[in-house]
Amino acid sequence: MSKSTPVRRRAAFVFGPPLVAATLGVLLLVQGAAGSSFEILKERRQERVDSGWVVPTPSFTDYLYPRLATTFAGSEFVVVNKVNPLDPIDFAPQVREIESSSTLDNSRGLTLREVAATALEKLAAAMASDGAGKLFVNSAYRSYDYQSDLFVQKIEQYGEEEALVRSAKPGHSEHQTGLAVDVSVPAQGCAIMQCFGDTEAGKWIAENAWRFGFVVRYELDTVSTTGYTYEPWHLRYIGRELSTMYHENGIHTLEDFWGYPAAPDYEMAASTTD
Ligand code: DAL
Ligand code: ZN
Repeated sequence: MSKSTPVRRRAAFVFGPPLVAATLGVLLLVQGAAGSSFEILKERRQERVDSGWVVPTPSFTDYLYPRLATTFAGSEFVVVNKVNPLDPIDFAPQVREIESSSTLDNSRGLTLREVAATALEKLAAAMASDGAGKLFVNSAYRSYDYQSDLFVQKIEQYGEEEALVRSAKPGHSEHQTGLAVDVSVPAQGCAIMQCFGDTEAGKWIAENAWRFGFVVRYELDTVSTTGYTYEPWHLRYIGRELSTMYHENGIHTLEDFWGYPAAPDYEMAASTTD
């Protein structure tokens, strides 16, 4: 958290009252213009690269815009964790079926948001062409109700304590954004197991997913920040601009990337959301 923690606090300090007036306009901007968001983020990226990425200078585009973007359920940059549920809690994105091909097996007919589905198809093609295996889609978009059932199943299977570090409560799962996907290469074993990280496919994904706009969201030993144990199979789409920044700056969690507080458990919600 050390590198970027000041982002949220400084944003509140710098903008104060004008924040409310600006918010409405920015909400419309963010919702209506994904293209322009990338232009702004490109500028931000350049500034960060030029300054060696420490903390960006305080300005509207550096702080307010991305901060709001991370709170929108429909934003590609939304931060979803145990203290930041989706709003609305039963948010349901527009999704499409991921296309099966010679390099990607989506025989379960699972869906993602357009940007993430396209990126995953490209990732699978590159992975196969590098000889790292044919990608299988184990899980992708999950509705609020589906996640609810899954969470109950995990409690029955593992007990509550273990379930809480493996599975999100409904409204708190990245899968509900349509931007997260669980993958495996069945021929290499370890499907949805931590040993997937040691397979050729798992290593390829850890090294290359960022080139397609994804990050491995729950890396090894980040449970104290994310609230979840190592999931080398869980990819979160954040777009190539941000995944490149994430990678180039050696970041390991979205909480650190955005300067959000750690979210190890649900009980912290009242004191850490502002
Ligand atoms: N397994 C991840 C944390 C989820 O349920 O979203
Ligand atoms: Zn997952």
